[in-house]
Amino acid sequence: MRQSAPPKTYRVKSFGCQMNVYDGERMGELLTDKGMAPAKDGEDADLVVLNTCHIREKAAEKVYSDIGRLTKNGKKPMIAVAGCVAQAEGEEIMKRSPAVGMVVGPQAYHRLPDMIDKAVHGERATDTDMPLETKFDVLPQRRKVGPSAFLTIQEGCDKFCTYCVVPYTRGAEISRPFSALVTEAERLVQSGAREITLLGQNVNAWTGENAKGQAIGLEGLIKALADLPDLARIRYTTSHPNDMSPALIAAHGEIEKLMPYLHLPVQSGSDRVLKAMNRSHTADSYLKLLDQFRAVRPDIALSGDFIVGFPGETEEEFRETLQLVDAVGYSLAYSFKYSPRPGTPAATMDGQVSREVMDERLQRLQAALNRDQYAFNKQTEGRVCDVLVERKGKFENQWLGKSPWLQSVWFEGDVQLGDMVTVDMVEAGANSVRGRMVEKVSA
Ligand code: 5AD
Ligand code: SF4
Repeated sequence: MRQSAPPKTYRVKSFGCQMNVYDGERMGELLTDKGMAPAKDGEDADLVVLNTCHIREKAAEKVYSDIGRLTKNGKKPMIAVAGCVAQAEGEEIMKRSPAVGMVVGPQAYHRLPDMIDKAVHGERATDTDMPLETKFDVLPQRRKVGPSAFLTIQEGCDKFCTYCVVPYTRGAEISRPFSALVTEAERLVQSGAREITLLGQNVNAWTGENAKGQAIGLEGLIKALADLPDLARIRYTTSHPNDMSPALIAAHGEIEKLMPYLHLPVQSGSDRVLKAMNRSHTADSYLKLLDQFRAVRPDIALSGDFIVGFPGETEEEFRETLQLVDAVGYSLAYSFKYSPRPGTPAATMDGQVSREVMDERLQRLQAALNRDQYAFNKQTEGRVCDVLVERKGKFENQWLGKSPWLQSVWFEGDVQLGDMVTVDMVEAGANSVRGRMVEKVSA
């Protein structure tokens, strides 16, 4: 690689999950600290960070086509590939794509500034270590954030579901320390956050010690954060059914700032498939768990993830997934066609399901999920609820926010981003609800 001028502007493009969004923001802060400015909309950046996702197929292809686009017409930005594709296929990317100057994994991106210095001198570098020092110890403080902010509290996964790359790309489960999280949450609130979503691949496996040195679980952390006066809402995602503790379930009935919404992936409604996935729960134990949440918080909105066409899934087993969906009545859910991930046990299992069958099953599943999402929205019609204003709408005076149940609500009014308003839920749509503003609760 040739020598180049130090980059002055940057752009971080994040793909995939909310944790990548969080990581992307933190990389932006690192680069700002290094004296660089975000590139303006529509302008080329001197440094582009592709913060990639490896969870489903065509991940690497997407990276190569992005690199192609960035280097079109002889353009030569500095390119860093970060995220889970970098972790899984970094060496290969370096070999195949001379335009890439840096490859950095999700646990090593705090070293990006040093790598940029090297790249300026023409040295290409790959860093996919999972070092003992954590990136969190050295990242700069949080700056300006929107009304709803993410905070990674737990990372990595020890569950090894047989279809999933996460345990390989993100590494073993770690919990960030309590005091660091409280400090970061305080900074987020000072920087404008009114809602914090606690993130982790298995967020409910978080453990720590509170200020008194007592061992606590996620409910203890949520309780501590609920004491921050200017923080109005707390959410967490993504949970695993096996890490749900009675104390966390109870917290849903006790902590007002903890929103009535739970994302709890189940993946399949068939016990045989669940076993082959190494999920270590059954459809029935999952449903019983949800009943416990409903007992303490009857209005809780439920969300989940599904995979159709896992190797060996029969029509009958797929129907069990549809039955589970009928039994739950999700307010929102994410469903995917199974994608064989290199290096995972399921990728070499017998009985890989054809694309046509997967397409057809996904359509049927999504029809059921869409039906339930609309039904959920419909039954909130006529309620009055708090909405946190998160975005400007398309039209003058129009605003978009979230209900406690994570529905998108749009309405007109004289408000600002970050305001909490009460809204009359007037008309449900498939993906959002039209509301009428009643009053501002707080600015
Ligand atoms: N194929 C399809 N979907 C997957 N997910 C994870 N791995 C795969 C895969 N190999 C889905 C799961 C998980 C969500 C984040 O992505 O549903 O909960
Ligand atoms: Fe992947 Fe399973 Fe871990 Fe979730 S719990 S990150 S699906 S291995």
